[in-house]
Parts: sequence; structure tokens; C-alpha cells
Amino acid sequence: MSKTIVIYDSKYGHTKQYAEWIAKECSCAALPRKQASSATLSDYDTIIYGGGLYAGGVSGINLLTENYDLLNTKNVILFTCGLADPENKENVTHIREALSKVLSSDMMSHFQIFHLRGGIDYKRLNLIHKAMMGMMRKMLLGKNPSELSTEDEELLRTYGKVVDFTDCNSISSLVACANSFSK
Ligand SMILES: Cc1cc2nc3c(=O)[nH]c(=O)nc-3n(C[C@H](O)[C@H](O)[C@H](O)COP(=O)(O)O)c2cc1C
Repeated sequence: MSKTIVIYDSKYGHTKQYAEWIAKECSCAALPRKQASSATLSDYDTIIYGGGLYAGGVSGINLLTENYDLLNTKNVILFTCGLADPENKENVTHIREALSKVLSSDMMSHFQIFHLRGGIDYKRLNLIHKAMMGMMRKMLLGKNPSELSTEDEELLRTYGKVVDFTDCNSISSLVACANSFSK
């Protein structure tokens, strides 16, 4: 049977929650990114990597990009966890555009990519993140409202609040994909 692991990088716990749900469904371990190295990747046939979205980038994704020589013969599932609603095609297009700036076209086609929705609690943000979100809000408020994307509108609507969109049902296609590898 093939060996599977979930590795995640989570700053405020949303990606961690998904990683734990996925690991439970796949009967495997979930390991924080900080504890994973290229040696860890060598030990598994299927690697599920999840990271929070921060200004379009996936937290800790260099674990995948710097070890692609190892990963290109393995099954790799990448999931992002962000505030933007992945049910909205425009949001997914934006996430994929940002991903394709970091991942080569080989990586984009080799990795099975999924998008899950996290949450935010403004009171818990560190100073840098608070400042970044404040600047983003200011920039969006200065735009013509007709130019705002649904993602922008969502940010303005939820700014300063506590929102949590994590949903254990949204992992089902990812888990089915992972299980198809272990057959
Ligand atoms: C500074 C900052 C930038 C963010 N940028 C994005 C983004 O580009 N796209 C998005 O969908 N969510 C963005 N978010 C929301 C996070 O992705 C969301 O809070 C996610 O649940 C974080 O996962 P984590 O708690 O596992 O770190 C951002 C949040 C912060 C604080």
C-alpha cells in the first residue's frame, strides 16, 4: 500500500484544521511544514501539501518548489486555504494565476490542486498582517467600486471581523483523489 502524508503550513489554524481532517480521512499523519524536510518527502509516495494564502502566495510552498526533483515521481496534492470563496471561478482564476508565478508549468500539471476556504480573526493577526490588511483595505476603498472583484468586496465586508468558513465537507474531492492514489 502506498504511503501518504499531509504536510501543512498554517499561521492561524485554518489550514491545520483542514490538514487534520484530511489526515483522518486518509488514515495518515499530518505534519507541520517546519518539521518536514526533503528526507521526509523521500519516505512517502503521496504528499498532500496545504498552505494558507498570504497576498496570493502559498505559505511554505518552497518545500515543493525546492524539492521537485524528488516530487516529480510521486503523487502530489496541493491545497490552498484562503479567505476568497473557491466556489467563485474568478477567485480560483486569481489563485491559479498567482500559483503559476511560483510553480513551473510542469509542477502546475503534475500537482493535483484544490482550493479550500479558511477564515480570519482580525484580533489575532500579528502586527505585520494587521498592517498588510489595513493597507489592502485602504487601497480597495480608493478604487472605483465598479472595479472591485468579488474577492475585494468580500475583504471589505469582513474587514475587522471574525469569520470562519472552514468546512469539513469541502475536502471530499481532495480525499477521493488521495485515496485513488493509494489503491
Ligand atoms: C496579510 C494577509 C494576506 C492574505 N492574503 C490572502 C489572499 O491573497 N487570498 C486569500 O484568499 N486569502 C488571503 N488571506 C486570508 C488567509 O488566507 C486566511 O486567513 C487563511 O484562512 C489563513 O490560513 P491559516 O490560518 O492556516 O494561516 C490573507 C490574510 C492575511 C492576514
